[in-house]
Amino acid sequence: MSSSNPPPQAHDAARLDAQHEAFTQYFDGKLGIAPLDGLRPSKIIELGCGSGAWAIQAAVQFPDAQIVAVDRAPPPEGILPPTVTFQLADLTKDLKFDAETFDIVHARSVLIHVANAESVLRRASRLVKPGGLLLIEEADVLSFGNSGGSATRRFIGKVKEIQDSLGADVEFGRKVEGIVGALGTFEEVHVEKISLPFGGNGPDKALNQLGLGMKQSLATASGPLAKRFSDRGLTEEVAREYNEEQERSDNESAMDFYLCWARRSLE
Ligand SMILES: C[S@@+](CC[C@H](N)C(=O)[O-])C[C@H]1O[C@@H](n2cnc3c(N)ncnc32)[C@H](O)[C@@H]1O
Repeated sequence: MSSSNPPPQAHDAARLDAQHEAFTQYFDGKLGIAPLDGLRPSKIIELGCGSGAWAIQAAVQFPDAQIVAVDRAPPPEGILPPTVTFQLADLTKDLKFDAETFDIVHARSVLIHVANAESVLRRASRLVKPGGLLLIEEADVLSFGNSGGSATRRFIGKVKEIQDSLGADVEFGRKVEGIVGALGTFEEVHVEKISLPFGGNGPDKALNQLGLGMKQSLATASGPLAKRFSDRGLTEEVAREYNEEQERSDNESAMDFYLCWARRSLE
């Protein structure tokens, strides 16, 4: 779950692809809420690319761009188109790219997993060219634990305990806007907070679908998590009770998710 916890785990590519699909539907087929239509980026970097799904979609939208997809574990073999280059790297270590190299720097659902996310975010921000865009999409997982019933609170409480011990911040999503704003190098910082109803019973149909997609994704991840961290109290029973509670028709738990984009000043 965290960079401080080697060796890297193989991706659950099917789960990450399904999660990407849920986001894409929410974004009406786009790559996010940032104003990307009509741009002609020449270099894009995707930090924590997972299965490669976002980078692959970016390659379709921007066929003239060179895209670098970075992760500590590779995406499935043969999946990336020719304009996407995979680079194995730990985001908590120095990235071997010059400052101000990329027109678009993107990371989604990555920073809550890394140790010292603020410093990773600061270094990522320096990769953005003047006038380029930084796109960060991140959860506040604690908001989800707090909104749920006792089994959800227990499960997320264990996740938080484990992540705390690894130096990762499960609430990082809600901190992104403040950190990017304080850098002083971005002239526009936009954030949209969405609340994903895991019961799929909110007033917004599109959000409900995304909430159900995220619930499915976490359900799939919960089994391997319980296997890996049972000695830390995240047992199969904790995971099972969490999933049972999540399937109840009165499930009102929701996860806050922050969609942030910022434009680097021209200086
Ligand atoms: C929840 S997945 C999200 C993947 C992808 N961004 C998406 O939205 O589908 C988190 C990703 O972050 C990667 N990751 C976590 N810690 C990392 C680190 N220290 N360095 C590089 N990648 C890391 C994981 O390997 C995983 O692919």
